[in-house]
Amino acid sequence: MTSDSGESGRAVTRPVAVVASTATTGPGHPAPPDPRLGGRPLRRVVFDEATIASRVRELGAEITDSYPDGELLVLGLLKGSVIFFSDVVRTIQRPLQIDFLIASSYGTGTESSGDVRLVYDPDTRLDGRHILVVEDIVDSGRTLIRLLDVIRRRRPRSLAVCALLHKRIPTALQEPVRFVGFDAPHEFLVGYGLDHAEDFRHLPYIGAI
Ligand code: IMP
Ligand code: MG
Repeated sequence: MTSDSGESGRAVTRPVAVVASTATTGPGHPAPPDPRLGGRPLRRVVFDEATIASRVRELGAEITDSYPDGELLVLGLLKGSVIFFSDVVRTIQRPLQIDFLIASSYGTGTESSGDVRLVYDPDTRLDGRHILVVEDIVDSGRTLIRLLDVIRRRRPRSLAVCALLHKRIPTALQEPVRFVGFDAPHEFLVGYGLDHAEDFRHLPYIGAI
């Protein structure tokens, strides 16, 4: 599997074969189709497993350096962030606690509906703590605008967002997303937590459908 980010971090579009984990493939071995796809076509792999893992470690180091003191609560936005969240929190080298938020902005389609509902809202204490919201992907930014509003009312000591992917679409989002894994191409992406109609979340890589 191959993926690239250009100097800007933007993924470079080029066709690659869809293969299973490199653990079962390697030089000289033909790439078998990925059984996790259930025979459904993936246009290409955008970020492979190794690329994601190394960027996640870098993000963990950046986050560690950014919070020298205070209480840190990492809030994962379910369900999309769950895989990224569990990987990234394990790379943060300081004490922290975790909780989750559930928002819903997409139905089964691939276009943002703009209708964001907060389905689960944690009762964890937020005031006086550093809050780091972990999101899978920022597209229109509407989900975050709504969520950050809710969180800000609880008077955190600081509020920041860590997103694995950012589509860099102009949005009304006031504050920049502080930690970004990769700039994402303007395609519908699946895998590593991202779904299409709830499928593909368990792919260990990110692909475009
Ligand atoms: P936003 O509110 O438009 O920024 O959308 C954010 C949410 O939409 C993300 O948390 C994802 O759940 C979903 N989403 C946006 N783009 C994609 C994509 O390319 N693939 C899968 N889900 C996406
Ligand atoms: Mg989703």
